[in-house]
Amino acid sequence: MNLTVIGTGYVGLVSGTCFAEMGNTVTCIDVDTQKIEKLKQGVIPIYEPGLEPMVARNIYNKTLSFSTSLKDHLHNTDIAFIAVGTPMGEDGSADLKYVLQVAKEIGEYMTTPLVVVNKSTVPVGTADKVKATINKELENRGEKIEFHVVSNPEFLKEGDAINDFMKPDRVVIGSDNVEAEEKLRALYAPFFRSSTDRLITMDVRSAEMTKYVANAMLATKISFMNEIANICELVDADVNKVRIGIGSDSRIGYSFIYPGSGYGGSCFPKDVKALKRTAAENGYTANLIEAVENVNDKQKLVIAKKVVSRFGEDLKGKTFAIWGLAFKPETDDMREAPSIYVINHLTQKGAKIQAYDPKAREEAESFYLKGNKNVTYFNSKYETLENADAMILLTEWKEFRSPDFEELKKQLKQPIIFDGRNQYNHTTLSKKGFEYFQIGKK
Ligand code: UDX
Repeated sequence: MNLTVIGTGYVGLVSGTCFAEMGNTVTCIDVDTQKIEKLKQGVIPIYEPGLEPMVARNIYNKTLSFSTSLKDHLHNTDIAFIAVGTPMGEDGSADLKYVLQVAKEIGEYMTTPLVVVNKSTVPVGTADKVKATINKELENRGEKIEFHVVSNPEFLKEGDAINDFMKPDRVVIGSDNVEAEEKLRALYAPFFRSSTDRLITMDVRSAEMTKYVANAMLATKISFMNEIANICELVDADVNKVRIGIGSDSRIGYSFIYPGSGYGGSCFPKDVKALKRTAAENGYTANLIEAVENVNDKQKLVIAKKVVSRFGEDLKGKTFAIWGLAFKPETDDMREAPSIYVINHLTQKGAKIQAYDPKAREEAESFYLKGNKNVTYFNSKYETLENADAMILLTEWKEFRSPDFEELKKQLKQPIIFDGRNQYNHTTLSKKGFEYFQIGKK
């Protein structure tokens, strides 16, 4: 099929490239000229394992191309995907200005029948707005061209997005038109090897809702476990053991019940807020969803508070080594990362920070922690330790899992570790002579 993907952010670029890998002819469109020029050379703007070689391969095979002009490509398209950003507005709702701008352009430029797919995460009812916007443009032009708007939310995890796309747990297609639904089923069928049972079709609004509910449910599991971790500490229980104890119940399961420094990233914080907002707009107070958010906001600072209670309110003259800045491993993404909150909290109290992250240094330096003069960046985890009062682990990158603890002892002023992701064993570290603080165990 001939596909156009509008928006070459994380979702658009991964989706477009994976569709091309499956043999479709894909054009990815973006208004950012510089980005498109780089993409044409195979240079991708994000770190995502496996993506760069896949982009290069498909450019070479001529299944993937990049352009800034939607107008030039729309006439030759079977399906157009809208994958532009839906940033969080000031009131917590998803801002639809980019989505509707694209819809307007589709209405302006389409010349042949088209299936328009919403891949951006958008509130319930957005497909209707997209439809109305396209219709209005067609009316202005005095044209009558058949089109259908379908909702097809993405469920990609950063760091594992290629895998999630190529071997999906499920694909959700929300459509009110049988032919449009069939087109999407045909497009996705090759991604399911044996059976297409996990290609789930439903009406548009339910599909729009599914995305928010999936993310809110996962965020709820995390906030629930973080709350339990905080209670465990107070009653002298070990949340790591409790987690295993409850996860063995197949109704609960082991995934997404790891306590830590709170969830971050581009999806959970934004989607939880937007769902709360949708409920409010419809006259419903979403108490549980609001609590999920409140618990997470507090959780981001739990490890910083442990540092303060160990070293005191005044941290002048203290230096801390931070291992990990990204909101999770295998990404350079720092959106809503706990590290931002922890570092700002500690530096406001006078501390100096020596930070290392395998991929997110540039994001931190040039944007998220820009201007924080008390942060110095290093190129290896061990360099950060020199003369530091303690090490604080905030992202569970593999290279932090089994470090040389003797080296840590040698470099740190005192052998103290604050672990915001429960990567180490309490007993082992105590035996090695460390003062070890983690989440959910005294
Ligand atoms: C998420 C969803 O998983 C994906 O399906 C959706 O489409 C986009 O949002 P992503 O934001 O890439 O993906 O990250 P994910 O791996 O889900 O982790 C989100 C956050 O939860 C991270 O900050 C992670 O550290 C945290 N987390 C996850 C926990 O604190 N505990 C857990 O047990 C699992």
